[in-house]
Amino acid sequence: MSATARTLADALESARAMGLDRLDAQLLAAHVLGRPRAWVIANTDVPLEADVSATLGALATRRAAGEPLAYLTGQREFFGLSLAVSPDVLVPRPDSETLVEWALDLLDGPLGHREAPRVIDLGTGSGAIALAIKHNCPRAEVHATDRCASALDIARHNGARLGLDVCWHVGAWWSAVPGLCFDLVLSNPPYVAPGDRHLQDLRHEPAIALTPERDRGDGMADIERIVAGASAHVASGAWLLIEHGADQSTAVRDWLRQHGFPAPVTRQDLAGRERVSGGAYAY
Ligand SMILES: C[S@@+](CC[C@H](N)C(=O)[O-])C[C@H]1O[C@@H](n2cnc3c(N)ncnc32)[C@H](O)[C@@H]1O
Repeated sequence: MSATARTLADALESARAMGLDRLDAQLLAAHVLGRPRAWVIANTDVPLEADVSATLGALATRRAAGEPLAYLTGQREFFGLSLAVSPDVLVPRPDSETLVEWALDLLDGPLGHREAPRVIDLGTGSGAIALAIKHNCPRAEVHATDRCASALDIARHNGARLGLDVCWHVGAWWSAVPGLCFDLVLSNPPYVAPGDRHLQDLRHEPAIALTPERDRGDGMADIERIVAGASAHVASGAWLLIEHGADQSTAVRDWLRQHGFPAPVTRQDLAGRERVSGGAYAY
């Protein structure tokens, strides 16, 4: 190794100097080198080829400018599954695991008597929620929709790669599944209010995944469309669970009560914020 060769430690240090935290710098290095993170931690003295060093530097610059790590590495873990992601889909969040855990509780409990419960994930993005359900409850017949065809391509790719059989449907909310009825309806829809200050931090993710179209300004428009449209697709005893912002839980429960879900409840995420509401349909 020449006296001037750049080592992995030098590259990690440069990334840190750009403002990356240690974990992101190590994960980017692991991605570029095609090695596990543990290898990166244990081998910081290895010299880097110039092209590898340049690739790592370019990715670190993009990360420092706010691009999500998952878009740079092309993958993200969700509920123990490794999912491909691209800028066409929202990066799946750990927050949504609250929704999946609740859904699995229902499939084991109140819906446990159904031999092949029919589940739908409305607005599936990368397929995260639908695939986590199918992986953990193979007896479920899982359907998933998205209005964005390129997002659905990613979801379909993830399903095929993981060997999980999900029926994918393109289209706007319920119009994607005319005539179909479900035992369990799940959705993490766009719910960020237009103009919300957090949108700046989310600028690399698709606007269609974040903010509802034709919204009154409170981020509720898509939640309202999904809940209001449910009655044509569920029977008494079916459940609907929907993820929402921490400040929307009262409005979501009110809307559920007005649309055939008389006793809605809310679950908190790991940080103790009210993030998922739902209930059983009774009509
Ligand atoms: C918040 S993202 C959730 C993605 C994924 N379910 C997750 O939790 O990672 C919302 C998704 O809804 C889709 N979407 C937005 N408007 C829609 C509509 N009118 N009909 C169906 N899907 C829609 C977006 O393309 C996006 O994939």
